Amino acid sequence: AAVTAAATLPGCSALGSRGAIDTVGRVDFRNRLRIPPLAEADRRGGTTEFALAAQAGRSAIVAGGEADTWGLNGALLGPTLRARRGETVRITLTNHLDEATTLHWHGMHLPAAADGGPHQMVEPGATWSPSWRVDQPAATLWYHPHPHGQTERHVYRGLGGLFIVDDDHEAALDLPRTYGVDDIPVIVQDKTFDSTGQLIETARHDNGMVGDTILVNGTAGPVFEVGARRTRLRLLNASTARSYNFGLGDGRPVTMIASDGGLLSEPLSLQRVLLTPGERAEVVVELEPGQEVTLRSYPQDLGLTDARARNSGAADELDVLLLRAAARLAPSPEVPARLAVVDRLDESAVAVTRTFELRNNRINDEEMDLGRVDDVVTVDTTEVWEVWNGHRQPHNFHVHDVQFQVLSVDGRPPPPELSGWKDTVYLPPEVRFRLIMRFTEHTDPAMPYMYHCHLLWHEDQGMMGQFVVVEPGGRPADIGGGHGH
Ligand code: C2O
Ligand code: CU
Repeated sequence: AAVTAAATLPGCSALGSRGAIDTVGRVDFRNRLRIPPLAEADRRGGTTEFALAAQAGRSAIVAGGEADTWGLNGALLGPTLRARRGETVRITLTNHLDEATTLHWHGMHLPAAADGGPHQMVEPGATWSPSWRVDQPAATLWYHPHPHGQTERHVYRGLGGLFIVDDDHEAALDLPRTYGVDDIPVIVQDKTFDSTGQLIETARHDNGMVGDTILVNGTAGPVFEVGARRTRLRLLNASTARSYNFGLGDGRPVTMIASDGGLLSEPLSLQRVLLTPGERAEVVVELEPGQEVTLRSYPQDLGLTDARARNSGAADELDVLLLRAAARLAPSPEVPARLAVVDRLDESAVAVTRTFELRNNRINDEEMDLGRVDDVVTVDTTEVWEVWNGHRQPHNFHVHDVQFQVLSVDGRPPPPELSGWKDTVYLPPEVRFRLIMRFTEHTDPAMPYMYHCHLLWHEDQGMMGQFVVVEPGGRPADIGGGHGH
């Protein structure tokens, strides 16, 4: 198995007062980037069926030895699921771990009973088979566990993967789309290893675990051999706490084509792409034959104090992935000038405005309670959620079931990278975000969806709330609190 030396990182072990990490030029890029396999789908009988088994295993990730990791159908991470808009999917999850977990389909519009939140715990040895009709634009979504109070640890151990939604519109565009060839999953995570190659799971401060070793698709020191002039990277920040401010090491821009929920209306040339935990962006990178360029994460202004910036990794400068172009590259068409029609949600139709303040691991001063419904939404209505980070700690905001649009940031129009469909958005301290969203899925009134900070330690500490979507005049049912562990 390919084992690489992790970059030796000075001064990164003292929690709370460490200096910034700088790995630029120090990562030994010698491991071929692992590409998660596409999950096999069984399409007999009109339903697209996938089987996932959560299991423990051992993974040689860095020098020194193997780590105890968790994966789906393997020892680390899981296969890429792929389905087309209009298909009905059914996923059979079998839990071979020795503790209960869940799988949540992040970014997916679906019935709450299939959502895989903390009310859908799958006990050891048990099987869970959610099914739903995929009905949303082509997008890079993902899946990960969501057991209340344990999400950070389950994701850090390695459970998670991509879920790509395809549609006819995206398929008709001239974009790179050969999976693993010129259309590449880039699942970025940070972890900390001890000298025996084992994962350290206890190094945590008030934002959770921020690791000193960056993995892409579970590969340390990853290099991808580029074979085409243009390569599409499906960037996913699957870290538990760390944010990345992606850019290319030689200063060339990337072309952003999609945000969390699908294509932007037009491509956007960017020097930096900020992704906080849970967020995705699709970018196209153009290389000449023989060129090498490093995908990096640059120090980022998250609006934090210096100490907080260091604790959250925001001051770090990191080498992430080496792209190495072959001597001859297959031609690729230019990125189309028009990508999609992103219909703006109608603000004049807004029925309800709600306000959410995130502070001290609470939302509106409430700690998450599995037995309490915080918000009751009426089906087929449009709402504005005003979201606000009330102190100088990094938080973002994720809503289940819907893709939203950012109406305004402190009263101003959002920057272009936030102009498309989003399900997770970074909240700089004391900046007011107005998000507009439409709820079209009427749910069992006893089965809530979640909203929360996607820094998973904050979520685990209770920075989460629950909403149900009911018929007009409907009321939430008693949802009970006994499902959590
Ligand atoms: Cu990606 Cu509620 O989660
Ligand atoms: Cu947070």
